[in-house]
Amino acid sequence: MRRTILTAPLCMCLVTLSLSAQDGLKYLPPQEPEQRTLTLETGETVHYRAYENIPYVANIEDPQYQKLNIYVPESAYGDNRDTPIFLRNYVGGYMAGRAGQPSTKDATGRALAEGYIVVIPGVRGSNSVVEEHGDKIYTGRAPAAILDLKAAVRFLRHNDATIPGNKDRIVSDGTSAGGAMSALLGASGNDPVYEPYLKAMGAADERDDIFAAVCFCPIIDLEHADMAYEWLYRGTNSGVRNLTPEQAAVSEELADLFAGYQTGLLLETPLGERLTASDYRHYLKDLLVNSARAAQDIGMEIPDSIGVLYGSTREGKREITDIDLDIYLEYLVKMQPLKTPPAFDPLNVLASRPSPENMVFGDAHGSSSNFTEFSLRKATADPEAELDKDLRQRVYLMNPMNFIGKEEARTAPHWYIRHGAADRDTAFQIPINFSTKLANSGYDVDFELAWDRGHSGDYDLDELFRWIAGILYRNE
Ligand code: DHB
Repeated sequence: MRRTILTAPLCMCLVTLSLSAQDGLKYLPPQEPEQRTLTLETGETVHYRAYENIPYVANIEDPQYQKLNIYVPESAYGDNRDTPIFLRNYVGGYMAGRAGQPSTKDATGRALAEGYIVVIPGVRGSNSVVEEHGDKIYTGRAPAAILDLKAAVRFLRHNDATIPGNKDRIVSDGTSAGGAMSALLGASGNDPVYEPYLKAMGAADERDDIFAAVCFCPIIDLEHADMAYEWLYRGTNSGVRNLTPEQAAVSEELADLFAGYQTGLLLETPLGERLTASDYRHYLKDLLVNSARAAQDIGMEIPDSIGVLYGSTREGKREITDIDLDIYLEYLVKMQPLKTPPAFDPLNVLASRPSPENMVFGDAHGSSSNFTEFSLRKATADPEAELDKDLRQRVYLMNPMNFIGKEEARTAPHWYIRHGAADRDTAFQIPINFSTKLANSGYDVDFELAWDRGHSGDYDLDELFRWIAGILYRNE
């Protein structure tokens, strides 16, 4: 009884606070928004209206980034029921992404031309800072970026009446670390594990699941990316990669961890075969051959000096039959030197320079941090060192692999995932495993290694927007 009396006023106070915070998230669009035009490279001109610098959380920590921009093509004006929303983020290198404007240089301009509403939220990242009492506070350490994207989606739903567009047709897009955030947004919809953080930020009390995720070269599964990288490239260590004996030893140790990880994923190929480390080179070769053939079909010249093997069809046509993976990997390494081991969590292990990932897992004072037990143990020379619980949780919250097939999460039904066949920023197994896990869990996945593409995104927009139109049509 005594307890009830003591806590009741506090409860009421909290309820009032959170209600008023939710009211503060109601958006009143300007009566006369700015009208703009964008001329695409095709010469097509798109007329649209701009609504900019709209805060999407009630408790703004970082006003430079926690705001979003909305662009509504004239064709969608007055229609707030059906028009899909293209949600582009500009996260790169795990740094903050600006609330940008539509551009002819990426998919945003094209999305407007297609008649879609474009939303670009600012997103905090490893380098975003605010000043507090003369101190620098780093606002974007993990998992801030995903929280901001979720808060932005919730804000759109919260303002369904005043912000046009179909909030159940949100298509997210990003590249590299931004592709990772698109992947995580798509994978982890509504998972209550993020709820305490979102509440504390004053995010709208709404769903944050999305319809589709477009992920170009997503730098994901960070805590397993080092082992995958060394497993793939170990054959180049004493050759073109030219590692020191110390680096080669770390590489071998990491590479040896990959098979166990891969087995534990329990993935299946489309033919229903287990995708283990011992089958992986074969599986990767098939994907690369498909990629090379698709490129050949549209007239690209592919030299056999890079490991691509040709045979002749009965009609006498030159056809790609196989790829020598060792030659091909060596070619990639010659084109762009590899990261040194450990590629993603190198802090204080041989190389002391922190990676973008070490920075994003650092703290609000600007520290960098190891985020794998492997590197932490090497860095501290303590073979029993463990990541602390809080950091383990933050690592968990940043990895989309954790949410596929998880009951509490509503994963996006549609996925478009591309990784360049010439991209060495992460190992091929990383996006392949991600796509395979999604497909194995019953989601609609369009995945390809894009021939001759390096680490880049928003290419082949004709294909991307055909795919988007296709998933929208199928679900009508
Ligand atoms: C990006 C590239 C990387 O190689 C990496 O480790 C993290 C992020 C990027 O381009 O966003």
